Amino acid sequence: MARPASQLLLTVTLVSGLVIYTVSQRRAEKKPNFIIVLADDIGWGDLDVNQPEKHTNNTPNLNKMAQQGLRLTDYHSPASTCSPSRAAILTGRYGLRNGVTHNFAVNSVAGLPLSEVTLAQLLQQAGYYTAVIGKWHLGHNGPYSPNNRGFDYYFGIPYSNDMGCTDTPGYDLPPCLPCVSSEPQVIRQRRSVPSGCYSKVGLPLVENNSIVEQPLNLWALTDKYRSAALRIIHSARARAEPYFLLVASAHMHVPLAPVVADTSGEAVYAASLQELDGLVGVLKAAADETDKGNTLIWFTGDNGPWEEKCQFAGSVGPFTGKWQTSKGGGSAKRTTWEGGHRVPTVVYWPGRIPANTTSSALLSGMDIFPTVLSLAGVAPPADRRYDGIDASGVLLRGEQSGHEFLFHPNSGAAGKFGDLQTVRAGKHKAFYITGGAAACSGGTGQEQLHNPPLIFDLDREEAEETPLQFATAEYRVIAERVARKREELLWDIATDGSVSTADYSQDELAAPCCDRREAVCRCHTVC
Ligand SMILES: *[C@@H]1O[C@H](CO)[C@@H](O)[C@H](O)[C@H]1NC(C)=O
Ligand SMILES: *[C@@H]1O[C@H](CO)[C@@H](O)[C@H](O)[C@H]1NC(C)=O
Repeated sequence: MARPASQLLLTVTLVSGLVIYTVSQRRAEKKPNFIIVLADDIGWGDLDVNQPEKHTNNTPNLNKMAQQGLRLTDYHSPASTCSPSRAAILTGRYGLRNGVTHNFAVNSVAGLPLSEVTLAQLLQQAGYYTAVIGKWHLGHNGPYSPNNRGFDYYFGIPYSNDMGCTDTPGYDLPPCLPCVSSEPQVIRQRRSVPSGCYSKVGLPLVENNSIVEQPLNLWALTDKYRSAALRIIHSARARAEPYFLLVASAHMHVPLAPVVADTSGEAVYAASLQELDGLVGVLKAAADETDKGNTLIWFTGDNGPWEEKCQFAGSVGPFTGKWQTSKGGGSAKRTTWEGGHRVPTVVYWPGRIPANTTSSALLSGMDIFPTVLSLAGVAPPADRRYDGIDASGVLLRGEQSGHEFLFHPNSGAAGKFGDLQTVRAGKHKAFYITGGAAACSGGTGQEQLHNPPLIFDLDREEAEETPLQFATAEYRVIAERVARKREELLWDIATDGSVSTADYSQDELAAPCCDRREAVCRCHTVC
């Protein structure tokens, strides 16, 4: 346990006046701890309190956290797929700046460009203990691993839980490939296996730079994450170090592996959601117990539900993207419809964030970077530009000032990955491109470019069904503002002193496995 501050002060008084100054300074500016919980593929409607009329009770801990904190209702993931969203959260920058515009693969050689500076690096340099538990998906080889990107500790999976076979002691939903040791490992493309997992390289569980289990047991993963997170929280407090803990859970990404008797899609999804909620409850209890009033918990998602997984996908709530679904395409993950971007978000900091409040300020996952740095009193490097905004006024003082404009990058439709083709401007939203993601039925909806853009008014209809008429004055005003802002942003990126490009090349040797001759390997070191 930490020594009481008064005792510490007394001890150093005897040593030197200079030290007293340092210690009392540090006491005065006690740094807050940060816990970011990033759920995978969660739907806006999965949080009970976002849809009270449904009377679901899957997220009691998150509901309580919202009652004791702040619920953000117009908060968006920075991209509608995993790697670009995570890269933008950790850098505070759009993919066009940080280089990460689509997902890394099992055999990707590289990851988040090394020229990028992560939130963890900056906090680590500022004296924080930094840890990430869960899914990384920003490159798993050598210099790209979390330990080399600012995290003191890493425990989790290098990419998504459907990117590799797993131990299958029963069922997993939808079924994943079992690992077969008699066949050679292969990297299979998703195309050949429309449901389930698409690689026969055993899914590894990694601690720091070592594989500790491969293939991992999906059923035991939540327990292991929980223990690791508790260990981090308690040990950091015991050392009296401020900490930054990112818990990037495997929930709600398929395959889902809750322990339930009823294996219908709805029951499995609900049970997984309850499991995630339970994990949040445990983290919150640990934070309250160890450093209440000095620990901020920020719960959010990396992108919307994976609609093509049908009953194993989450709820978009009222954000059904009807314009797209009426044409047979998906309107959630991998799209810029609300279902792909609007994610359930709750921020909790007792004594600092007013309890039982909501805000409809337009915010983004990119705002975590500047907000957390601002609360920690750390300035980000000035040699590059950022897209996130400091939302501490919204969090702490009830201000309503979010983004004036927010761009959603293309994460799957026609055109170039990362292109900023959908724009929020207040309540309006302009689409330059639509289509591209599979619906439950398998239809993707034809990809279409729109110039002039389709513009929807989200206040008028959350379901994005009927765009504004081109001939109206309202349309002309918004279209002009959006076009001008888009030009400005592209110019801003073109003149940014530090723009990165990710290397997406692949090599089978880059797949994490200790023994390439065996499909299933178990080992304790990286080979
Ligand atoms: C993980 O790495 C950190 C240093 O980066 C080290 O302090 C810690 O002991 C390592 N943990 C394990 C279990 O290897
Ligand atoms: C929270 O706010 C809602 C609506 O503003 C109110 O109905 C409810 O009683 C409040 N709950 C608590 C615990 O203060």
